[in-house]
Amino acid sequence: MVLYREAAAKTQKDLAEGDVRKIIEELTRQNNRMAIIQQIAKSINVEMTYEEIIDEVATPLRSVLSYDLLSFCLLEKGQLIIKASIPKEQEILGEGWVLHSNNSAPWKAIHDKRCFLRQDIWHDSHKYQEDEHLRMVNIKSAIMAPLLVNNEAIGALNFGSSKTYAYSENDFIFVQQLADQLAVCINNARLFGEVSRSKREWEETFKAVPDKLFLIDCSFNVLRYNKQENLLLDNDGRENKCYHLIACCGGDRQLCPAVEAFKTGVSAVREVTHPSTRVIFNISAYPAYNENSELCAMVVYVNDVTTKRRMESQLFQSAKLAAIGEMAAGVAHELNSPLTAIIGNAGLILRKTDCKDKHYRLLEDIKNCGQRSKRIIQNLLTFARQDSYSFGPVSLNDVVETSLYLISYQIEKNKIAIVKKTSSSIPVVMGNKLQLEQIIINFLLNARDALEGVSEGRIEICTGVIEDPETESPAVMIRVTDNGRGMDPGILSQIFNPFFTTKEKTKGTGLGLSVSLGIAQTHGGRIDVASEPGAGSTFSLILPV
Ligand SMILES: Nc1ncnc2c1ncn2[C@@H]1O[C@H](COP(=O)(O)OP(=O)(O)OP(=O)(O)O)[C@@H](O)[C@H]1O
Ligand SMILES: [Mg+2]
Repeated sequence: MVLYREAAAKTQKDLAEGDVRKIIEELTRQNNRMAIIQQIAKSINVEMTYEEIIDEVATPLRSVLSYDLLSFCLLEKGQLIIKASIPKEQEILGEGWVLHSNNSAPWKAIHDKRCFLRQDIWHDSHKYQEDEHLRMVNIKSAIMAPLLVNNEAIGALNFGSSKTYAYSENDFIFVQQLADQLAVCINNARLFGEVSRSKREWEETFKAVPDKLFLIDCSFNVLRYNKQENLLLDNDGRENKCYHLIACCGGDRQLCPAVEAFKTGVSAVREVTHPSTRVIFNISAYPAYNENSELCAMVVYVNDVTTKRRMESQLFQSAKLAAIGEMAAGVAHELNSPLTAIIGNAGLILRKTDCKDKHYRLLEDIKNCGQRSKRIIQNLLTFARQDSYSFGPVSLNDVVETSLYLISYQIEKNKIAIVKKTSSSIPVVMGNKLQLEQIIINFLLNARDALEGVSEGRIEICTGVIEDPETESPAVMIRVTDNGRGMDPGILSQIFNPFFTTKEKTKGTGLGLSVSLGIAQTHGGRIDVASEPGAGSTFSLILPV
């Protein structure tokens, strides 16, 4: 009896110890699961991809819930798509797999908004759409939990096992808690991804604009700029003023339409010529308002229109020249014959007149003036393109040599130094040598005239091959630079006008450059000019190769 009581007491004690151990084990398991959920929540951040998220949870989960297939799928435009899965290499039910809504277990979990357990899939009386595929990857039991955010399902979390009855009803709570936590993380990552994508799209659009596009605040600080690499934005904001960094107005803010737009609150557009570089900018300023309808910033769009304006003025110039040329050509033809008679007859009489004769000087004057008039007419005819010139291969170095040979005496007698820098590798161009010489002679004579009264006058003439920034193709050029008086913008804008001259009547006809421009254009080229009052000028003849 004593023995029995002792035995009974021992069994009771054993039982109690077994229960306690079980309870402790269960509690430890629950604790581990809670710890894992917390750890997962901490380690997932919004910048992670779906693949990185599943990698982060896959390993710690194995210690608390066994699985052979782990995946999550998300609702996207009415479709349920598997976004990440373990094992990764598995194609069936892997990343990108679409689970159609009719008769699918994850869909059921989503619809019911609760975990769904399948203990023996292969022998389940109800067949689901994915069962065949589960069998192919040897999954016999599964647990599906909806991913809920604010009680709205965004997808499902799925565990699969190669054993039947691998999951118990007790695993429900853990899987649902895990799914709730993951749902928040995945949703945040998804939203962050969407925001980043649209931000990136906007930035790319912003950067794709070839012109300058920037955002300034009311104090003219640049907040954003589409070509950041060109700008060093100073974070303390002091050096970020647009008129220092971008300086389309050359520092003169009164030229900027943004000033006007800040005052009036409506957009403003203005064409501004940079005071020193002479680059012409079309500047548009568009006011930006904050949510309280207060003007807080300005979007400024700057477009370099120098080439466009130059082409427009050259077109205008050509049209004008064509009209004047036509008229002049008619007059020139009419004058040619009487002038030939005047020069010829004056020459005849001169030959018969003694140079001591009192009329000799007058006759000489008649002949000289006649010849000068004939030269003008010749120029007019060239200008009107009445003269036909044949084209052939021409070396620009030869053009330079001949031009210098013809007029170097006139230049050197004025004590002007000539510096010649010809490129040996310059290719020949198709053109008319005489006409090209005419351009260079005119450049040189103009340079000589600009050096009148300048001590240490110097003319540099050079040839070379360039990458023409206007056509973005190779071109050849002859450049004549002088350190003469230069031109102010008022004169510079008129030099190609026929008959425009600043020289005395006897010295200049004002046709030199307009004729030169006409010749350059018939050769498919152009003339570029850079000049600074008091410092000198550079005339470049640029011809396509
Ligand atoms: N290198 C230069 N430096 C300064 N001014 C120049 C230079 N080249 C041209 N110019 C200005 O351009 C004007 C027009 O030049 P253009 O060659 O067309 O006529 P011109 O030299 O006056 O007369 P011509 O018909 O005899 O050439 C000149 O009168 C002068 O004011
Ligand atoms: Mg001239």
